[in-house]
Amino acid sequence: MPKIVTEAIGKFSQHYPKVAVIVTASARGRDDAMTAAWHSSISFKPPLYGIAITSKRFTYQLITESREFGINFIPSEKASLAAAIGGTSGQQMDKFERLNIQKEKPLKTTAPIMKDAYAAYECKLVDSKPYGDHIWIVGEIVAVHFLEEAFTATEVLDLNKIKPLLYLGSDFYASTDKNSVSFVKRGI
Ligand SMILES: Cc1cc2nc3c(=O)[nH]c(=O)nc-3n(C[C@H](O)[C@H](O)[C@H](O)COP(=O)(O)O)c2cc1C
Repeated sequence: MPKIVTEAIGKFSQHYPKVAVIVTASARGRDDAMTAAWHSSISFKPPLYGIAITSKRFTYQLITESREFGINFIPSEKASLAAAIGGTSGQQMDKFERLNIQKEKPLKTTAPIMKDAYAAYECKLVDSKPYGDHIWIVGEIVAVHFLEEAFTATEVLDLNKIKPLLYLGSDFYASTDKNSVSFVKRGI
C-alpha cells in the first residue's frame, strides 16, 4: 500500500492511540478535572510527569494557583465520563458534583483523586514552559495510588483485571485486548 508523504501536517493525529487520563486540581475552594491525552512520564529520579495543556483550561488556572495536580488513570468503561469531563468547562460548573464523580482523599496534595481511577499520581508543579499553543507542565510525583489487584508483582497492568482507556483522536476511544499481551525480552 502506498504511503502519503506530505508537508500538509494538519493535526498530525497519526501518533494515536494514547492513554486518556483525567487531570485534577483544586484551589481557592474550587475543584476541577479535565481529560488529557498529551502527557508523559519524564524521569524516574526524581519521579517527573508532564502534561501539554493550554492556558484556556480552568484546570490549568487551578494548577498554577495551587502548584499541584493529580493524574487519574481510568478504565475504558469510563470513556463517556472522559468525554463529558473533556467537553465541559469547570469555569461554569463543579464537574465532580454535576457528573457525580466520587473523590478520594489525596495524601500529599490538595488535588482530588478519583475513586474510579485504578491508579493516580499526586504531583507538585516543578516547571512549566510554553511550546506553541500548549504549555508543558512538569510535576514531581509525590504520592501514588493504585489498585493492588490491577497490577502484577512486577508492576505491570493486568489486562485481565483492567482495560485501560485509549484515545484514538477525534471522538473515538478504544481499549486493549488481553489476548494480545506477549512477553518479549529486550535485546537482540
Ligand atoms: C480525549 C480528550 C483528550 C484531551 N486532551 C487534552 C490535552 O492533552 N491537553 C489539553 O489542554 N486539553 C485536552 N483536552 C481538552 C480538555 O479536556 C477540555 O478542554 C476540558 O473541557 C477542559 O476543562 P476545564 O476548562 O474545566 O479545565 C482533551 C479532551 C478530550 C475529550
